[in-house]
Amino acid sequence: MGQSMTRRAVLLSTAAGGLSRRSLASPTPGLAAAAAKGGRHYGAAVRWDHLSRDADYRAAILRECDHLVPELELKWASVEPERGNLTLAPMDAIADFARQHGLRLHGHCLLWRRSIPRWAQDEILRTRDWNLVVRYVSAVVPRYAGLIETWDVVNEPLALSEGVDGLQPDALLSAFGPDYIRRALETARAFAPTGKLMINEYGLEAEGPHGEARRRRFLRLLDELRRTGAPLDGIGLQDHLDLQLPRLAQARLAAFVREIRARDLFVTVSELDVKERDYILPPEARDGRVATAVRALLEVMLDAGKVDRVTTWGLSDRYSWLEVTRADYARFPHAWKDGTTPGLNRGLPLDAAMRPKAMHQVMVDLLRTSKS
Ligand code: G3I
Repeated sequence: MGQSMTRRAVLLSTAAGGLSRRSLASPTPGLAAAAAKGGRHYGAAVRWDHLSRDADYRAAILRECDHLVPELELKWASVEPERGNLTLAPMDAIADFARQHGLRLHGHCLLWRRSIPRWAQDEILRTRDWNLVVRYVSAVVPRYAGLIETWDVVNEPLALSEGVDGLQPDALLSAFGPDYIRRALETARAFAPTGKLMINEYGLEAEGPHGEARRRRFLRLLDELRRTGAPLDGIGLQDHLDLQLPRLAQARLAAFVREIRARDLFVTVSELDVKERDYILPPEARDGRVATAVRALLEVMLDAGKVDRVTTWGLSDRYSWLEVTRADYARFPHAWKDGTTPGLNRGLPLDAAMRPKAMHQVMVDLLRTSKS
Protein backbone atom coordinates (compact mmCIF):
# COMPACT_ATOMS: atom_id res chain seq x y z
CA MET A 1 0.00 0.00 0.00
CA GLY A 2 3.00 2.24 0.50
CA GLN A 3 3.31 5.01 3.02
CA SER A 4 1.52 7.76 1.08
CA MET A 5 -2.22 8.35 1.09
CA THR A 6 -4.06 7.50 -2.09
CA ARG A 7 -5.93 10.17 -4.01
CA ARG A 8 -9.20 8.65 -2.84
CA ALA A 9 -8.16 8.69 0.81
CA VAL A 10 -7.27 12.37 0.49
CA LEU A 11 -10.65 13.12 -1.09
CA LEU A 12 -12.50 11.17 1.57
CA SER A 13 -10.62 12.72 4.45
CA THR A 14 -11.35 16.18 3.04
CA ALA A 15 -15.01 15.30 2.62
CA ALA A 16 -15.27 13.98 6.17
CA GLY A 17 -13.70 17.16 7.53
CA GLY A 18 -16.23 19.60 6.02
CA LEU A 19 -20.01 19.69 5.77
CA SER A 20 -20.03 18.08 2.34
CA ARG A 21 -22.85 16.11 0.68
CA ARG A 22 -20.94 12.96 1.56
CA SER A 23 -20.77 13.74 5.29
CA LEU A 24 -24.47 14.68 5.40
CA ALA A 25 -25.45 11.45 3.69
CA SER A 26 -23.27 9.34 5.96
CA PRO A 27 -23.24 10.34 9.65
CA THR A 28 -20.19 8.24 10.52
CA PRO A 29 -17.04 8.87 8.50
CA GLY A 30 -15.91 6.10 6.21
CA LEU A 31 -13.23 3.83 7.58
CA ALA A 32 -10.63 4.84 4.99
CA ALA A 33 -11.24 8.51 5.77
CA ALA A 34 -10.75 7.82 9.46
CA ALA A 35 -7.65 5.73 8.76
CA ALA A 36 -6.21 8.48 6.55
CA LYS A 37 -6.36 10.88 9.50
CA GLY A 38 -4.07 8.51 11.37
CA GLY A 39 -1.83 7.99 8.31
CA ARG A 40 -3.22 4.53 7.66
CA HIS A 41 -5.26 2.59 5.12
CA TYR A 42 -8.46 0.60 5.40
CA GLY A 43 -9.89 -1.81 2.84
CA ALA A 44 -11.82 -5.03 2.40
CA ALA A 45 -11.71 -8.31 0.53
CA VAL A 46 -14.26 -8.38 -2.29
CA ARG A 47 -15.57 -10.80 -4.87
CA TRP A 48 -16.37 -9.57 -8.35
CA ASP A 49 -19.64 -11.53 -8.52
CA HIS A 50 -20.89 -9.55 -5.50
CA LEU A 51 -19.46 -6.20 -6.54
CA SER A 52 -20.72 -6.37 -10.10
CA ARG A 53 -24.34 -7.11 -9.26
CA ASP A 54 -24.97 -5.25 -5.99
CA ALA A 55 -25.17 -1.45 -6.21
CA ASP A 56 -25.68 -0.96 -2.43
CA TYR A 57 -22.60 -2.97 -1.76
CA ARG A 58 -20.57 -1.06 -4.36
CA ALA A 59 -21.61 2.23 -2.79
CA ALA A 60 -20.60 0.98 0.67
CA ILE A 61 -17.24 -0.20 -0.63
CA LEU A 62 -16.58 3.19 -2.23
CA ARG A 63 -17.64 5.01 0.94
CA GLU A 64 -15.48 2.92 3.28
CA CYS A 65 -12.39 1.61 1.47
CA ASP A 66 -9.17 2.93 -0.04
CA HIS A 67 -8.00 -0.51 -1.14
CA LEU A 68 -9.46 -3.87 -2.05
CA VAL A 69 -8.25 -7.44 -1.92
CA PRO A 70 -9.57 -9.98 -4.42
CA GLU A 71 -11.04 -12.77 -2.29
CA LEU A 72 -10.85 -15.40 -5.07
CA GLU A 73 -10.02 -13.91 -8.45
CA LEU A 74 -6.21 -13.88 -8.25
CA LYS A 75 -5.84 -17.35 -6.80
CA TRP A 76 -4.13 -19.84 -9.10
CA ALA A 77 -7.16 -22.18 -8.94
CA SER A 78 -9.40 -19.33 -10.17
CA VAL A 79 -6.93 -18.10 -12.78
CA GLU A 80 -6.00 -21.47 -14.28
CA PRO A 81 -8.59 -24.08 -13.27
CA GLU A 82 -7.48 -26.15 -16.26
CA ARG A 83 -3.91 -26.23 -17.45
CA GLY A 84 -3.13 -23.47 -19.94
CA ASN A 85 -6.62 -22.00 -19.82
CA LEU A 86 -6.20 -18.59 -18.15
CA THR A 87 -9.30 -16.94 -16.69
CA LEU A 88 -8.35 -13.38 -15.84
CA ALA A 89 -11.57 -11.53 -16.76
CA PRO A 90 -12.93 -11.29 -13.16
CA MET A 91 -9.57 -10.09 -11.84
CA ASP A 92 -9.26 -7.60 -14.72
CA ALA A 93 -12.75 -6.34 -13.86
CA ILE A 94 -11.70 -5.72 -10.24
CA ALA A 95 -8.56 -3.99 -11.51
CA ASP A 96 -10.62 -1.73 -13.82
CA PHE A 97 -13.01 -0.92 -10.97
CA ALA A 98 -10.06 -0.04 -8.74
CA ARG A 99 -8.44 2.19 -11.38
CA GLN A 100 -11.73 3.91 -12.12
CA HIS A 101 -12.26 4.77 -8.44
CA GLY A 102 -8.69 5.47 -7.38
CA LEU A 103 -8.44 2.42 -5.14
CA ARG A 104 -5.32 0.34 -4.61
CA LEU A 105 -5.23 -3.44 -4.69
CA HIS A 106 -3.37 -5.92 -2.54
CA GLY A 107 -2.28 -9.13 -4.27
CA HIS A 108 -3.77 -12.17 -2.57
CA CYS A 109 -2.35 -14.75 -2.91
CA LEU A 110 0.29 -16.40 -5.07
CA LEU A 111 0.91 -19.72 -3.33
CA TRP A 112 -1.45 -21.43 -0.93
CA ARG A 113 -2.21 -25.13 -0.70
CA ARG A 114 -5.95 -24.41 -1.04
CA SER A 115 -5.54 -22.11 -4.03
CA ILE A 116 -3.27 -24.27 -6.18
CA PRO A 117 -5.38 -26.13 -8.76
CA ARG A 118 -5.50 -29.89 -8.47
CA TRP A 119 -3.80 -30.43 -11.83
CA ALA A 120 -0.88 -28.17 -10.77
CA GLN A 121 -0.47 -29.98 -7.44
CA ASP A 122 -0.32 -33.30 -9.28
CA GLU A 123 2.17 -31.97 -11.82
CA ILE A 124 4.35 -30.36 -9.15
CA LEU A 125 4.49 -33.65 -7.26
CA ARG A 126 5.22 -35.62 -10.43
CA THR A 127 7.79 -33.37 -12.12
CA ARG A 128 9.21 -31.22 -9.29
CA ASP A 129 9.45 -28.52 -11.94
CA TRP A 130 9.59 -25.03 -10.39
CA ASN A 131 8.80 -23.55 -13.80
CA LEU A 132 5.15 -24.31 -13.14
CA VAL A 133 5.21 -21.75 -10.33
CA VAL A 134 7.18 -19.31 -12.49
CA ARG A 135 4.59 -19.56 -15.29
CA TYR A 136 1.71 -18.61 -12.99
CA VAL A 137 3.60 -15.84 -11.20
CA SER A 138 4.71 -14.36 -14.54
CA ALA A 139 1.12 -14.43 -15.79
CA VAL A 140 -0.34 -12.40 -12.92
CA VAL A 141 2.31 -10.25 -11.26
CA PRO A 142 3.45 -8.06 -14.22
CA ARG A 143 -0.13 -7.78 -15.49
CA TYR A 144 -1.17 -5.70 -12.46
CA ALA A 145 2.10 -3.77 -12.07
CA GLY A 146 1.50 -0.22 -10.84
CA LEU A 147 -1.82 -1.21 -9.28
CA ILE A 148 -0.75 -4.01 -6.97
CA GLU A 149 2.34 -3.12 -4.96
CA THR A 150 2.00 -5.57 -2.09
CA TRP A 151 1.78 -9.34 -2.53
CA ASP A 152 0.95 -12.29 -0.30
CA VAL A 153 3.56 -14.51 -1.90
CA VAL A 154 3.10 -17.46 0.43
CA ASN A 155 -0.13 -17.88 2.33
CA GLU A 156 -0.39 -19.97 5.50
CA PRO A 157 2.90 -21.89 5.34
CA LEU A 158 2.53 -23.13 8.92
CA ALA A 159 0.96 -26.51 9.60
CA LEU A 160 -2.55 -26.84 10.96
CA SER A 161 -1.26 -29.32 13.54
CA GLU A 162 2.12 -31.04 13.70
CA GLY A 163 3.08 -30.87 10.02
CA VAL A 164 6.67 -31.36 8.89
CA ASP A 165 8.81 -29.40 11.32
CA GLY A 166 5.79 -27.18 11.84
CA LEU A 167 5.25 -26.50 8.13
CA GLN A 168 2.14 -27.40 6.16
CA PRO A 169 2.75 -30.68 4.29
CA ASP A 170 1.45 -29.60 0.88
CA ALA A 171 2.57 -30.28 -2.71
CA LEU A 172 5.17 -27.49 -2.61
CA LEU A 173 6.77 -28.71 0.62
CA SER A 174 6.78 -32.30 -0.66
CA ALA A 175 8.30 -31.41 -4.02
CA PHE A 176 10.78 -28.69 -3.07
CA GLY A 177 11.30 -28.96 0.69
CA PRO A 178 11.10 -25.98 3.10
CA ASP A 179 13.22 -23.92 0.70
CA TYR A 180 10.11 -23.45 -1.48
CA ILE A 181 9.26 -20.37 0.58
CA ARG A 182 12.54 -18.64 -0.26
CA ARG A 183 12.23 -19.70 -3.90
CA ALA A 184 8.69 -18.30 -4.07
CA LEU A 185 9.88 -14.96 -2.71
CA GLU A 186 12.79 -14.89 -5.19
CA THR A 187 10.43 -15.67 -8.06
CA ALA A 188 7.99 -12.97 -7.00
CA ARG A 189 10.88 -10.50 -6.69
CA ALA A 190 11.96 -11.26 -10.26
CA PHE A 191 8.55 -10.12 -11.54
CA ALA A 192 7.87 -7.38 -8.96
CA PRO A 193 11.23 -5.64 -8.54
CA THR A 194 9.78 -2.88 -6.34
CA GLY A 195 6.86 -4.79 -4.80
CA LYS A 196 6.47 -5.40 -1.09
CA LEU A 197 6.59 -9.16 -0.66
CA MET A 198 4.76 -10.75 2.23
CA ILE A 199 3.91 -13.94 4.05
CA ASN A 200 0.31 -14.08 5.24
CA GLU A 201 -0.53 -16.31 8.20
CA TYR A 202 -3.50 -17.07 10.43
CA GLY A 203 -3.96 -18.21 14.02
CA LEU A 204 -0.98 -16.33 15.41
CA GLU A 205 -3.18 -14.45 17.85
CA ALA A 206 -4.52 -17.68 19.41
CA GLU A 207 -4.23 -18.35 23.15
CA GLY A 208 -2.86 -21.69 24.45
CA PRO A 209 0.09 -23.99 23.74
CA HIS A 210 -0.85 -24.52 20.10
CA GLY A 211 -0.91 -20.78 19.45
CA GLU A 212 2.36 -20.38 21.34
CA ALA A 213 4.00 -23.12 19.25
CA ARG A 214 2.80 -21.46 16.04
CA ARG A 215 4.22 -18.11 17.13
CA ARG A 216 7.60 -19.66 17.95
CA ARG A 217 7.69 -21.60 14.68
CA PHE A 218 6.72 -18.51 12.72
CA LEU A 219 9.54 -16.45 14.20
CA ARG A 220 11.96 -19.29 13.46
CA LEU A 221 10.73 -19.31 9.86
CA LEU A 222 11.42 -15.58 9.61
CA ASP A 223 14.94 -16.13 10.97
CA GLU A 224 15.57 -18.94 8.48
CA LEU A 225 14.41 -16.74 5.61
CA ARG A 226 16.60 -13.87 6.80
CA ARG A 227 19.64 -16.15 6.96
CA THR A 228 19.14 -17.19 3.34
CA GLY A 229 18.64 -13.60 2.21
CA ALA A 230 15.06 -14.16 1.02
CA PRO A 231 13.38 -10.96 -0.22
CA LEU A 232 10.68 -10.70 2.43
CA ASP A 233 9.34 -7.24 3.33
CA GLY A 234 6.31 -7.72 5.53
CA ILE A 235 3.89 -9.96 7.34
CA GLY A 236 0.12 -10.18 7.07
CA LEU A 237 -1.52 -11.29 10.29
CA GLN A 238 -4.93 -12.50 9.17
CA ASP A 239 -6.66 -12.06 12.52
CA HIS A 240 -9.78 -14.11 11.90
CA LEU A 241 -10.95 -13.74 15.50
CA ASP A 242 -13.14 -16.39 17.09
CA LEU A 243 -15.22 -15.58 20.16
CA GLN A 244 -15.50 -19.31 20.85
CA LEU A 245 -11.78 -19.41 21.66
CA PRO A 246 -9.94 -17.80 24.58
CA ARG A 247 -8.23 -14.56 23.69
CA LEU A 248 -4.50 -14.03 23.98
CA ALA A 249 -3.49 -11.38 26.53
CA GLN A 250 -2.68 -8.08 24.86
CA ALA A 251 0.83 -7.97 26.36
CA ARG A 252 1.74 -11.33 24.83
CA LEU A 253 0.38 -10.41 21.43
CA ALA A 254 2.27 -7.13 21.62
CA ALA A 255 5.50 -8.97 22.44
CA PHE A 256 4.98 -11.21 19.39
CA VAL A 257 4.37 -8.40 16.90
CA ARG A 258 7.38 -6.55 18.31
CA GLU A 259 9.43 -9.68 17.57
CA ILE A 260 8.30 -9.53 13.95
CA ARG A 261 9.13 -5.84 13.66
CA ALA A 262 12.52 -6.42 15.30
CA ARG A 263 13.31 -8.54 12.22
CA ASP A 264 12.89 -5.42 10.09
CA LEU A 265 9.51 -6.48 8.70
CA PHE A 266 6.33 -4.43 8.57
CA VAL A 267 3.07 -5.85 9.89
CA THR A 268 -0.45 -5.54 8.50
CA VAL A 269 -3.85 -6.75 9.68
CA SER A 270 -4.82 -8.58 6.54
CA GLU A 271 -8.11 -10.51 6.99
CA LEU A 272 -9.86 -9.23 10.09
CA ASP A 273 -13.32 -10.57 10.94
CA VAL A 274 -15.00 -12.16 13.96
CA LYS A 275 -16.73 -15.51 14.31
CA GLU A 276 -19.39 -15.14 16.99
CA ARG A 277 -20.11 -17.44 19.90
CA ASP A 278 -23.50 -16.52 21.37
CA TYR A 279 -26.13 -16.12 18.67
CA ILE A 280 -29.14 -15.81 20.99
CA LEU A 281 -28.21 -12.44 22.49
CA PRO A 282 -29.93 -9.31 21.14
CA PRO A 283 -28.09 -7.91 18.08
CA GLU A 284 -26.68 -4.92 20.01
CA ALA A 285 -25.12 -7.24 22.59
CA ARG A 286 -23.69 -9.46 19.86
CA ASP A 287 -22.25 -6.42 18.13
CA GLY A 288 -20.79 -5.22 21.42
CA ARG A 289 -18.88 -8.48 21.91
CA VAL A 290 -17.54 -8.36 18.37
CA ALA A 291 -16.45 -4.75 18.84
CA THR A 292 -14.73 -5.50 22.15
CA ALA A 293 -12.64 -8.24 20.54
CA VAL A 294 -11.74 -5.99 17.61
CA ARG A 295 -10.75 -3.17 19.97
CA ALA A 296 -8.46 -5.47 21.99
CA LEU A 297 -6.76 -6.67 18.81
CA LEU A 298 -6.41 -3.32 17.05
CA GLU A 299 -5.07 -1.55 20.12
CA VAL A 300 -2.11 -3.90 20.00
CA MET A 301 -1.70 -3.95 16.23
CA LEU A 302 -1.79 -0.18 15.88
CA ASP A 303 0.51 0.46 18.83
CA ALA A 304 3.05 -2.40 19.05
CA GLY A 305 2.55 -3.49 15.42
CA LYS A 306 2.54 0.06 13.95
CA VAL A 307 0.30 -1.31 11.22
CA ASP A 308 -0.51 1.09 8.44
CA ARG A 309 -3.02 -1.18 6.68
CA VAL A 310 -6.07 -2.84 8.15
CA THR A 311 -8.11 -5.05 5.81
CA THR A 312 -11.28 -6.85 6.82
CA TRP A 313 -12.27 -10.11 5.09
CA GLY A 314 -15.40 -8.59 3.59
CA LEU A 315 -17.13 -5.35 4.54
CA SER A 316 -20.74 -6.31 5.19
CA ASP A 317 -22.32 -9.33 6.88
CA ARG A 318 -24.29 -9.71 3.63
CA TYR A 319 -21.18 -11.31 2.15
CA SER A 320 -19.00 -13.16 4.62
CA TRP A 321 -17.28 -16.52 4.41
CA LEU A 322 -18.20 -16.94 8.09
CA GLU A 323 -21.49 -18.74 8.44
CA VAL A 324 -23.73 -19.70 11.32
CA THR A 325 -23.15 -23.42 11.19
CA ARG A 326 -25.13 -26.47 12.23
CA ALA A 327 -22.80 -26.78 15.24
CA ASP A 328 -23.64 -23.20 16.25
CA TYR A 329 -27.35 -24.03 16.18
CA ALA A 330 -26.72 -27.21 18.18
CA ARG A 331 -25.20 -25.19 21.01
CA PHE A 332 -28.57 -23.46 21.57
CA PRO A 333 -31.04 -26.35 21.43
CA HIS A 334 -33.89 -24.42 23.04
CA ALA A 335 -33.55 -21.26 21.01
CA TRP A 336 -35.49 -20.28 17.89
CA LYS A 337 -38.42 -22.58 18.64
CA ASP A 338 -40.65 -19.81 17.30
CA GLY A 339 -39.16 -20.14 13.84
CA THR A 340 -36.80 -17.18 14.08
CA THR A 341 -33.12 -17.62 13.28
CA PRO A 342 -29.93 -15.93 14.45
CA GLY A 343 -29.56 -14.43 10.97
CA LEU A 344 -26.07 -14.00 9.67
CA ASN A 345 -22.81 -13.97 11.59
CA ARG A 346 -22.24 -10.31 12.58
CA GLY A 347 -18.47 -10.19 12.34
CA LEU A 348 -17.80 -7.35 9.87
CA PRO A 349 -18.03 -3.54 10.15
CA LEU A 350 -21.40 -3.19 8.35
CA ASP A 351 -24.53 -5.27 8.90
CA ALA A 352 -26.38 -6.97 6.06
CA ALA A 353 -28.29 -3.72 5.37
CA MET A 354 -24.98 -1.84 5.01
CA ARG A 355 -25.45 -0.03 8.33
CA PRO A 356 -22.34 0.58 10.46
CA LYS A 357 -22.21 -1.46 13.67
CA ALA A 358 -20.21 -1.09 16.89
CA MET A 359 -17.21 -2.72 15.19
CA HIS A 360 -17.23 0.13 12.65
CA GLN A 361 -17.28 2.75 15.41
CA VAL A 362 -14.40 1.09 17.27
CA MET A 363 -12.38 0.99 14.06
CA VAL A 364 -13.10 4.64 13.27
CA ASP A 365 -12.04 5.64 16.79
CA LEU A 366 -8.81 3.65 16.71
CA LEU A 367 -7.76 4.13 13.10
CA ARG A 368 -7.97 7.91 13.18
CA THR A 369 -5.55 8.23 16.08
CA SER A 370 -2.13 9.27 14.84
CA LYS A 371 0.60 6.75 14.21
CA SER A 372 3.20 7.38 16.90
O1 G3I B 1 -17.14 -20.86 -7.46
C1 G3I B 1 -17.37 -22.24 -7.10
C2 G3I B 1 -18.68 -22.68 -7.60
O2 G3I B 1 -18.65 -22.71 -9.00
C3 G3I B 1 -18.98 -24.08 -7.03
O3 G3I B 1 -20.25 -24.46 -7.41
C4 G3I B 1 -18.88 -24.07 -5.50
C5 G3I B 1 -19.11 -25.45 -4.91
O4 G3I B 1 -18.37 -25.60 -3.71
O5 G3I B 1 -17.60 -23.65 -5.15
C6 G3I B 1 -17.33 -22.33 -5.58
O6 G3I B 1 -16.05 -21.98 -5.19
C7 G3I B 1 -15.86 -21.73 -3.82
C8 G3I B 1 -15.48 -20.28 -3.64
O7 G3I B 1 -15.08 -20.02 -2.31
C9 G3I B 1 -16.64 -19.36 -3.97
O8 G3I B 1 -17.71 -19.60 -3.12
C10 G3I B 1 -14.75 -22.63 -3.36
O9 G3I B 1 -15.20 -23.98 -3.39
C11 G3I B 1 -14.31 -22.24 -1.98
O10 G3I B 1 -13.15 -23.00 -1.65
C12 G3I B 1 -13.96 -20.77 -1.94
O11 G3I B 1 -13.60 -20.46 -0.62
C13 G3I B 1 -12.76 -19.35 -0.43
C14 G3I B 1 -11.48 -19.86 0.23
O12 G3I B 1 -10.65 -18.77 0.63
C15 G3I B 1 -10.66 -20.73 -0.74
O13 G3I B 1 -10.23 -19.97 -1.85
C16 G3I B 1 -13.48 -18.35 0.46
O14 G3I B 1 -14.56 -17.78 -0.27
C17 G3I B 1 -12.49 -17.25 0.89
O15 G3I B 1 -13.13 -16.37 1.79
C18 G3I B 1 -11.30 -17.91 1.54
O16 G3I B 1 -10.42 -16.91 1.93
C19 G3I B 1 -9.34 -17.36 2.76
C20 G3I B 1 -8.09 -16.60 2.35
O17 G3I B 1 -7.87 -16.74 0.96
C21 G3I B 1 -6.88 -17.07 3.16
N1 G3I B 1 -7.15 -16.97 4.58
C22 G3I B 1 -8.38 -17.61 5.06
C23 G3I B 1 -9.59 -17.10 4.25
C24 G3I B 1 -10.88 -17.72 4.76
O18 G3I B 1 -10.87 -19.10 4.57
